[in-house]
Amino acid sequence: MPAAESLLHDPAMRPRRFVAGGPLRGTIKVPGDKSISHRAVMFGALAVGETRVTGLLEGEDVMATADAMRAMGATIRRDDNGTWYINGVGVGGLLQPDRALEMGNSGTSTRLLMGLIASHGITATFTGDASLSKRPMGRVIDPLAQMGTAFTATPGPNGSQTLPLMIRGAAPAVPITYRLPVASAQVKSAILLAGLNTPGVTTVIEPIPTRDHSERMLTGFGADLTVEEQDGERVIRIRGEAELKPQTIEVPGDPSSAAFFIVAALIVPGSDLVIENVGLNPTRAGLVEVLRAMGGRIEEINPRIVGGEPVADLRVCHSPLHGITVDPAVAPSMIDEFPVLFVAAALAEGRTVTAGLDELRVKESDRLAVMATALSSIGVAVEEREDGLVIHGSGGARLPGGTGTAVATHLDHRIAMSMAVAGLASDAGVEVDDTRPIATSFPNFEALLDGLAQ
Ligand code: S3P
Repeated sequence: MPAAESLLHDPAMRPRRFVAGGPLRGTIKVPGDKSISHRAVMFGALAVGETRVTGLLEGEDVMATADAMRAMGATIRRDDNGTWYINGVGVGGLLQPDRALEMGNSGTSTRLLMGLIASHGITATFTGDASLSKRPMGRVIDPLAQMGTAFTATPGPNGSQTLPLMIRGAAPAVPITYRLPVASAQVKSAILLAGLNTPGVTTVIEPIPTRDHSERMLTGFGADLTVEEQDGERVIRIRGEAELKPQTIEVPGDPSSAAFFIVAALIVPGSDLVIENVGLNPTRAGLVEVLRAMGGRIEEINPRIVGGEPVADLRVCHSPLHGITVDPAVAPSMIDEFPVLFVAAALAEGRTVTAGLDELRVKESDRLAVMATALSSIGVAVEEREDGLVIHGSGGARLPGGTGTAVATHLDHRIAMSMAVAGLASDAGVEVDDTRPIATSFPNFEALLDGLAQ
């Protein structure tokens, strides 16, 4: 990993040691959902008229999406109260960007925008940071090329196609029927977004359901989209040359961000924490079920609907946890939460076994390898398998923590936050080598944590 390794010596890195403090008590609110925020900006930028968004995640990843949509003609601004106003160009109206689209760390921006551009007659170049530049893009290039889009990508290891890449959209694109070979909401969404400006009906077949924010939100924006169950598979059809109508959107809190505080409250003795406004869409809420099965006390208060999504406040109390075998079928509904689940497992009684997690190897980092190394370095017994980790928990006793070198986070926000949480339940604390990537998804993570520690 030459690019990431050179970053280990970057003097701008912001290391920090996270140490055990008092119990986590009180009430907090986590920022808006990242997946929904990206989509609110993209769909607003394609609607004709003004979309208003409250609760938008103002993290670097979503800002990368907003910058790209501006470069392609949308007007996007924020008022002093934090409401965002997006004036769209209309489906089919994207302008050719006059600069490279700089995607930073954001796989969601990259893959969804590739889909959007695929059926517009424009050319664009995507670039990203060292982490994003290693991630596979072939999974999106394959179906979009079938629709007529042309790509020039940078060859990566093992025949993979990576950033920087150039895309030349097809106008008109050809509608396809595509069965997803990997359970990926990004791939599904890229094809559906390409379908928005493609004549006829574009069909995506999902053998394993993934987060359904694109389907819900595109329907809300007025697209002609249907979802049907057929032989145990989800069949999603979108009729092209759609006209999107502007919306008023309230973005619910991100369950993937709440996850760090849920686990922190479960493993720090004496904790009793309320996390307000957490999105609990069933395609996202797997972690809560798995932690409950491990003995976690997580109560849902005031369940309600926000922005078309189920939401509740969560009351989480310190709980003795026990290890379990996690059903691989639950993986897509908690795919981003495994790093922090591994931390919960490290504090549980007995063994936690996970499998079917090959996708974790191609996230912002190889999350199986990186978490195995990180947890071992702070005294946790971990076995790394091809498609999962087996973790032998401490039975609730504090972890030894790290006295040597800092944990390497490899530009991965979720590794940084997960290991910060591990530090709260450790004797010696846990030093994270770089906290900067946290700003991609959860800019006020450290401030919230520090506020609770007082
Ligand atoms: C996302 C889908 C998931 C997830 C990512 C956000 C989305 O990626 O890991 O953080 O917003 O569609 P995959 O599609 O690669 O599973």
